[in-house]
Amino acid sequence: MQIVDINCSKKYQIIIEKGIIDNLGNILNDYSDVNKFCIITDSNVSGIYNEKIKGIMSKCNAEIIYYTIEPGETSKSGEVYLKIMEFLAKNQFTRTDMLVAIGGGVVGDLTGFVASTYLRGVDFVQVPTTILAAVDSSVGGKTAINLKSGKNLAGTFHQPVKVICDSDMFDTLPKDIRRDGFAEVIKYGIVNDKELFDKLSGNIDIEYVIKKSVLAKARLVEEDEFDNGNRRLLNLGHTFGHAIEIAAEYKYSHGEAVAMGIVIVSKAAVAEGFLAKKEYDKIRKLIQTYGFNLEPEFTAERLYEIILLDKKREGENITLVVPFGIGDSRLVKLTLEEVENYLIEGLN
Ligand SMILES: NC(=O)c1ccc[n+]([C@@H]2O[C@H](COP(=O)([O-])OP(=O)(O)OC[C@H]3O[C@@H](n4cnc5c(N)ncnc54)[C@H](O)[C@@H]3O)[C@@H](O)[C@H]2O)c1
Repeated sequence: MQIVDINCSKKYQIIIEKGIIDNLGNILNDYSDVNKFCIITDSNVSGIYNEKIKGIMSKCNAEIIYYTIEPGETSKSGEVYLKIMEFLAKNQFTRTDMLVAIGGGVVGDLTGFVASTYLRGVDFVQVPTTILAAVDSSVGGKTAINLKSGKNLAGTFHQPVKVICDSDMFDTLPKDIRRDGFAEVIKYGIVNDKELFDKLSGNIDIEYVIKKSVLAKARLVEEDEFDNGNRRLLNLGHTFGHAIEIAAEYKYSHGEAVAMGIVIVSKAAVAEGFLAKKEYDKIRKLIQTYGFNLEPEFTAERLYEIILLDKKREGENITLVVPFGIGDSRLVKLTLEEVENYLIEGLN
């Protein structure tokens, strides 16, 4: 078992253990004031784990109600959000009751947003079932739904009371979803944890990888909970990756686009004299080992056009995350012209 203490405005623990889901009913019994738990999941997860979850929850002393959403990003909508709110109200869910999100980042973000707004805020437990949800959305308390105008445009900061991560549940993940989670894990290694990066080749110990990733993110989130300073280091690969997602009209998954973004900015960092060529080679090789396509078919001009519209642009500048070494990424404020140059160097 691995336990990570998160010390944000609200303190909570992330518990990582193979098979821990079997103990969920008992863990929830610790919250003895709760009369009702609402388990929110998606139909893929409930399709695989429904019987198991119902069996486990029968050990729980409180009443259990269930809400299942359609899988996928489209469920992070205002419509689904309101349906869940109405469901809770109809079931006389009160402020001392608790939500439990069992699923990937979609279920986690949506449940967190409901938890932060239903009756002006109720508690929730997160059970991440994808690697991305375990290493990324379980730390930092960001909740969100999408608007028609863009992703995650409505959201809050609302920390869970506990995160229970059963690494056995990753065994049923489709290959591409599993791989995508590793784009973020590799990112943490390059941002601030060389030891993690070095452990990602060959046979990996998944509990160790989740723990180190969570710690890598926690270090940044704890010092900058509301995302104004060093937390932005977590955007490594995301500025260029986001432009690739848009240029490709979301043909690439988020993980694939981030992986390409990391390689582009790392190559530019070599050209700028910040990163040693042999470190870049290691980054590229590791990313390739995980099966990511590293050949985006876009020109620097096309990606630059998109970046000009980036919501993170600060007037005539953009702060880019640049690796100076594996485990040592830094924020670098660039002019728009310099950003274009980085793209040319990175795609060359
Ligand atoms: N809050 C944050 O800090 C944060 C951080 C990163 C990403 N996100 C959000 O997370 C979302 C992406 O998360 P995701 O990649 O987990 O996507 P997801 O929740 O859509 O899950 C991916 C797919 O895997 C399926 N799945 C989940 N667990 C499974 C399991 N154990 N076995 C089999 N299938 C399973 C799901 O049904 C879905 O089809 C995005 O909406 C993103 O904005 C939030």
